[in-house]
Amino acid sequence: MVNEQKTAKEVESDRQHHIDRSIVILGAGNMGSALMKGIINANLTPTAKITACGVHLDKLQRLSAQWRVNHTLNLVEAVEAAEIVLLCVKPQTLPKVLAQVRQAVRKDQLLISIVAGVKIAFIQNAIGQQVAIVRSMPNIASTVDEGAAAVAFGEFVSEEQQRIAVSIFEAVGEVVVVAEEQLDAVTGLSGSGPAYIYMVIEALIDGGVKMGLSREIATKLAIQTVLGSAKLVKESGLHPAILRDQVTTPGGTAINAIHELESHGLRSMLINAVATATRRSEELSKIISKS
Ligand SMILES: NC(=O)c1ccc[n+]([C@@H]2O[C@H](COP(=O)([O-])OP(=O)(O)OC[C@H]3O[C@@H](n4cnc5c(N)ncnc54)[C@H](OP(=O)(O)O)[C@@H]3O)[C@@H](O)[C@H]2O)c1
Repeated sequence: MVNEQKTAKEVESDRQHHIDRSIVILGAGNMGSALMKGIINANLTPTAKITACGVHLDKLQRLSAQWRVNHTLNLVEAVEAAEIVLLCVKPQTLPKVLAQVRQAVRKDQLLISIVAGVKIAFIQNAIGQQVAIVRSMPNIASTVDEGAAAVAFGEFVSEEQQRIAVSIFEAVGEVVVVAEEQLDAVTGLSGSGPAYIYMVIEALIDGGVKMGLSREIATKLAIQTVLGSAKLVKESGLHPAILRDQVTTPGGTAINAIHELESHGLRSMLINAVATATRRSEELSKIISKS
C-alpha cells in the first residue's frame, strides 16, 4: 500500500491538496500533458477521472497507456462528463474548440485556460454564459515540475475553485496569483524567461570552451552553475545583490567579470528584454481578441 510508506505529514498534505474532480484536458500536448502528469504525481485526482483529448488518436493512446488516463477524440462528450476543463490548445485553435464545446459547458464547471494571449472575456463570450474561468501563464519548466506560473481569476470563480486552480499549478512548480492585466508582464518575465536563460547557459558554455574546457565539461558546469545559483537565491531568501557581493572578493576574478558585464549593460538588456516581450504579448493579445 502506497499510504503505508508515507509519513503522517505527507498523508495530511495529500488530503489537503486532493481535489478529486473529473478533469478533461483539451489539447494534451507539451503543456497539457505536463499538467496532467503533475496532477497524477501529486495525487490530486484519480487517473480514472482524467481524460486527455487531442486530434491524433495514436498520441492519445500512447499517453493513455503510459498514465492510465482515459482518452477521446470526442471533445463534447469529454466536456459534458467533466467538472474541470483544462484548455491547453494553441491560441489559433481555441476559437474553434470553444465553438465546438460551448453547448456542453455548464455553470458548475471550472474552466482553466493556459492559452497565451486569450483573455477571460474572450472565453466568456465564446461560451456565452457566466462560467468560472481561470487564466494562467505557466512556463515550459512545468514539464520538469519546476514551472513558474501565474493565475488570474475571472468574476465567477469561487474560493474553492481558486484553491483547485492553484493546486493544479503547484503540482508542477511555483504559482503566484495576479490580476489579469499583469499576465502580459508575467509572459515577458517567466513565460518567455526560459529562452533568455538558455542563451545565458549557451554563452557560458562557449566561454568555457573558449578558455580551453571540453564542451562536455563546460556544459555540465554551466548548467549546474545556473541551477545552483537559482537554488541558493530561493533557499537563502537573500537578495541576489547580497549573494553577488558575497562571491566578489576585492580585486578578484568575479568583480573583474562583473565590470565587463556592466560595461555591456547586462542588466539593462534583461530589463529591456522583459519589457519588450511584455509589449509584444499585449500586441498579440489584441490581435487574438480581434480574430
Ligand atoms: N509551450 C510553452 O512554453 C507554453 C507556455 C505557456 C503557455 N503555453 C500555451 O499552452 C498552449 C499549448 O501549448 P503547447 O506547447 O503544449 O502546444 P502543443 O504541444 O502543440 O499542444 C497542443 C495540443 O492541442 C491539440 N489540439 C490541436 N487541435 C485540437 C483540437 N481541434 N481539439 C483538441 N485538441 C487539439 C494537439 O493535439 P495533437 O497532439 O493530437 O496534435 C496538441 O495535443 C498554447 O496555447 C500556449 O500558448 C505554452
